[in-house]
Amino acid sequence: MRVVLGVAGGIAAYKACSVLRLLTEAGHQVTVVPTAAALHFVGAATWEALSGRPVSSEVWDDVPAVPHVRLGQGADLVLVAPATADLLAQAAHGLAGDLLTNTLLTARCPVVLAPAMHTEMWTHPATVDNVATLRSRGVHVIEPAPGRLTGADTGPGRLPEPDDIVAQALQVLAEQEASDTAAGAATAAEGDLAGRHVVVTAGGTREPLDPVRFLGNRSSGKQGYAVAAAARRRGAQVTLVSANVSLSAPQGVEVLEVGTARELEEQVRGLVGAGGVDVVVMAAAVADFRPAHYTDAKIKKTHGEGDDSAPTLELVRNPDILAGLVATRGGASTPYLVGFAAETGDATGDVLSLAWAKLERKGCDLLVANEVGVDKTFGQDDTTVHLLRPGTSEVVSVGPATKDHVADAIWAVVAPALP
Ligand code: CTP
Repeated sequence: MRVVLGVAGGIAAYKACSVLRLLTEAGHQVTVVPTAAALHFVGAATWEALSGRPVSSEVWDDVPAVPHVRLGQGADLVLVAPATADLLAQAAHGLAGDLLTNTLLTARCPVVLAPAMHTEMWTHPATVDNVATLRSRGVHVIEPAPGRLTGADTGPGRLPEPDDIVAQALQVLAEQEASDTAAGAATAAEGDLAGRHVVVTAGGTREPLDPVRFLGNRSSGKQGYAVAAAARRRGAQVTLVSANVSLSAPQGVEVLEVGTARELEEQVRGLVGAGGVDVVVMAAAVADFRPAHYTDAKIKKTHGEGDDSAPTLELVRNPDILAGLVATRGGASTPYLVGFAAETGDATGDVLSLAWAKLERKGCDLLVANEVGVDKTFGQDDTTVHLLRPGTSEVVSVGPATKDHVADAIWAVVAPALP
């Protein structure tokens, strides 16, 4: 899950280091957003080292990524620990002077605040009213613990222990997931893909060279999995043909695992050949070539004393699965075909012009073009895509947005186009 851990400026900020640790150890991807005041207590280097992610307090860093809305929109949970009296007041009044308060305004996921302050501040009518306002809006405000405060004084206002905060936050998240699942099941039944059978391919094929080596690519499968999950949410029966992906199966989706391009082709052809498939989304990165020869034993570096030669790899073409589906279409049962264009741009054209040429070449009904590169798109959470259809020069551009958002944008184009 994507968690934003907000840290406001109180002495208890040091305890948030343990909260962060517990969340990352539980497998969550945590982005820490400290306020400027929090950085007086614990520095950015500590948060970055513990979270493994960049840290910022202001909306002015990395402006093209629009962090002031993106963080909140993309989060599954926002947890603020400690939340000071000032932070509670800003949140209750919708103020948005820094990255954390902007994130609180844009988040539509569960928000959990763990206040910590002196007893006088916690019991002040202004804070009492602010907490009541926040709770009335569905924000989960954890009750502070009684005990020793910053100085010698004691009373309610102490930040609860990190494991208690994390347990409460994860409980709120679990409750939200349970209600989303129930709501999702209800909408799926009446969604715009109800009664449709959708086949989605995802991941990247691996073409073996010998028992330990393969030719592969950087596809993580995240976009294809998001497309499959979105189709299911919108009511479709979904079969996901998954090539070398280490993601858990989306709820309610049948997953068929494959390794190579030819295995992927066999599964897709089998499904389409059996009939009743309404849409095929080819989100998988299919290897265009495979080694001409598979060697049963591991290829050795040398064949004798002083041998420093290197083998030459002979490659043969793999079938173009999408083009094959286009070629065999005809008749009422032909599925709507969605291709993906993984483009880096090159000397012959930019991403869009290469994508238009690919749409023409492939002959599919919709082409989803995105820019790829070592640190662009593959494995990343946000992406920008352009949706291209034959017979129109109109381009629907989406993003930068989460892959879930992109997936829904694709279905918003495909669903109304189905016969
Ligand atoms: N595709 C396919 N079979 C292949 C290669 C690609 O079905 N052997 C599909 C992909 O799943 C994608 C679309 O074709 O939906 C475009 O893939 P891409 O790798 O971008 O294009 P290629 O046709 O391989 O062209 P190039 O690599 O030259 O850009």
